[in-house]
Amino acid sequence: IAIHCLNGPNLNLLGRREPGIYGAATLAEIERSLQDHAARLDIALTFRQTNHEGELVTFVQEAGAAGAGVLINAAAYTHTSIALRDAIKGAGVTAVEIHLSNVHAREEFRHVSRIAPVCAGVISGFGPHSYIVGLDALAHLLRGQLP
Ligand code: DQA
Repeated sequence: IAIHCLNGPNLNLLGRREPGIYGAATLAEIERSLQDHAARLDIALTFRQTNHEGELVTFVQEAGAAGAGVLINAAAYTHTSIALRDAIKGAGVTAVEIHLSNVHAREEFRHVSRIAPVCAGVISGFGPHSYIVGLDALAHLLRGQLP
């Protein structure tokens, strides 16, 4: 199976960005451990990041065209982007939403996700491990091992 892990705005700054909230790991370090985990599970993993909403939409469309599942940390676009929601729905991809922080324990504007209704599920609050848990869940879904 193939999975595209898509990362939204400001996640390129992980490691330096609000480490009290997001931890010390860089996005490159998260990618490395996720690639290791994906290899063990025989998953072809593509890892991408962009700061631009429209580019994130294009990434989703490309995952759909490639027949890949989508593991997505849309960062702030989670809470705002109807375009991203439409892209996930329109591309017909199976998607899992992930966050490093527990968005429900933070500001009220982070309690709303525009994309959650078109995702299979949400993993939030486990730091870099959210990526691992999300990948496992998505792989199970794509392999038909979950209802
Ligand atoms: C985030 C949570 C979002 O609310 C925030 O805008 C981010 C990161 C997370 O991974 O915890 O940029 O998606």
